[in-house]
Amino acid sequence: MTEQPLWVNEAWQKVNEKVERTSKRIGANFPHASENGQYVLAEPYWWTAGFWPGLLWQLYRESKNEELKMIAVECEEKLDAVQHDYYRLDHDMGFMWTLTSVAHYKLLGDENSKRRALLAANLLMGRFNVNGNYIRAWNPWTVGEDNSGVAIIDCMMNLPLLYWASEETGDPRFKGVAKRHAEMVLNHFVRSDGAVHHIVRFDPDSGERIEALGGQGYSPDSAWSRGNAWAIYGLTLSYHYTGETKYLECAKRVAHFFVSHLPEDYVPHWDFLLPADVDSPRDSSAGAIAACGLLLLADKVNVTEAPIYQRAGERILESLYKNYGDWEGTEEGLVLEGTSHFPEQKFMKNPLIYGDYYFVEGLARLKGYKELFW
Ligand code: GLY
Repeated sequence: MTEQPLWVNEAWQKVNEKVERTSKRIGANFPHASENGQYVLAEPYWWTAGFWPGLLWQLYRESKNEELKMIAVECEEKLDAVQHDYYRLDHDMGFMWTLTSVAHYKLLGDENSKRRALLAANLLMGRFNVNGNYIRAWNPWTVGEDNSGVAIIDCMMNLPLLYWASEETGDPRFKGVAKRHAEMVLNHFVRSDGAVHHIVRFDPDSGERIEALGGQGYSPDSAWSRGNAWAIYGLTLSYHYTGETKYLECAKRVAHFFVSHLPEDYVPHWDFLLPADVDSPRDSSAGAIAACGLLLLADKVNVTEAPIYQRAGERILESLYKNYGDWEGTEEGLVLEGTSHFPEQKFMKNPLIYGDYYFVEGLARLKGYKELFW
């Protein structure tokens, strides 16, 4: 393992202690956001279903704690019912099965997990719109809604499931689709200054771009910090799997925008481009996600550039640990002050399971565990 600052070991120990405690209450369920100190449990088809088992796998990798492993496996098994419920499945199959089945397969070689992950990759690939070169994000949220033309930046983190499937099977179809979606993101989502749109809508028949939408950001042309974080990490992963420098260059551009808009404590507000009269709580989850992307980016660039990204990733994680944790109290969440959905006023200033997951993934990376679940 590489040498690490003292706070990393201290944080790792506190995370292990807290998760061993909270796992006894949460068990094989799907926590989403913590309210009044306790995680609210979501249905297994919600996009966040992979993060709790993924977090347990991150800890299991070192501790070999069998109880955590059993919970992660049980969560994965519960997702089988979701995999056969066509109407429930959207593009977030990547998040869901990467952090359950792919993680399980990579750590322990479980063949059933591999089969589940390949099935998820096939279903995800089936959402590709060949006219517009995008993976369709969602199914209708309400009866009659037509969102067949909608792509969102978050999907960059679903692509690794496709890259992995091509590597496992030797079949280039999965990677081909992932690359075409990633290329579309370069053309339609990332702006010249490195800010990123959340949603872009296409005509699903002609494939022509219609418009950008604000989505979970303040407006179409603001900069939702979690969307920017998905882009940093997702683009770097596309570079990791393809070796194509256009993804690396674009990841750097988004990273510079992100880091240069951070406040003093290195933890982003929920949107970077807000009018002065709009409330601007932090989104700690965006910080945790970006930190993981920045640390991977540091490993991909030359030795002169690497410290820029490495240091930024470390500073974010250190601030999350020192300024956004509740390590002695009864709060179940690891990282306070996430913002799930500001425009809908949902879960603001709450711990979020994905913030917790990426915080732990980032710490694991700083400890030297560099094999990616993604
Ligand atoms: N993928 C949904 C979100 O980031 O909130």
